[in-house]
Amino acid sequence: MQITIGENTLELLIGDITKQATDAIVNAANGSLMGGGGVDGAIHKAAGQELLQACRRLRKEQLNEEPLGTGEAVITPGFKLPASYVIHTVGPIWNTHNPIQDIQLADCYQNSFKLAKEYKLTSISFPSISTGVYRFPIERAAKIAMRTITNYLQTVDFGQVRMVLFSETDFTVYKSALRNIICS
Ligand code: APR
Repeated sequence: MQITIGENTLELLIGDITKQATDAIVNAANGSLMGGGGVDGAIHKAAGQELLQACRRLRKEQLNEEPLGTGEAVITPGFKLPASYVIHTVGPIWNTHNPIQDIQLADCYQNSFKLAKEYKLTSISFPSISTGVYRFPIERAAKIAMRTITNYLQTVDFGQVRMVLFSETDFTVYKSALRNIICS
């Protein structure tokens, strides 16, 4: 499914984010930036050891060895990936008692766009942040992601955005969230 928003395109597809040749791909990382399972593991594996070394350097030089905060984003080269850059962001871990997790999830998308724009990138691929290991309910996450991305594209000339879903079920959820926004 693809829609046009101003000069921008937003495409929803089923696929593997490590194969996307957009300027950047976004990693659903954890604060340590040292890799993990899910999409994080797949990105580190496909990018090669140099990505881990770059993340180590970044933590030391930009983060003073502190973990990256929830909702924040940082950028590294993509090394062996087809994408030139990886934007690492940390989604919220689902917790029914956390009143700001929706905002934190929206921040992941917004801060990724902000970095991409700073680097003058014109295409970006997102995974479904927080809906795997971090257990954020996917219907809720999809609504937030689609609302944040479409709002951004309504106000900024960015280029091409891909939402890369890893299963048919996830794709259907995101497609319906996007349709609801377009039709409202
Ligand atoms: N391409 C696209 N999507 C993928 C891929 C891939 N290669 N691999 C997994 N996914 C999907 C999952 O199916 C899920 O829908 O990415 C979504 C996010 O799931 P996770 O990777 O588990 O990310 P998240 O829920 O944000 O949890 C982050 O998991 O691996 C650790 O280090 C990571 O601790 C962090 C946590």
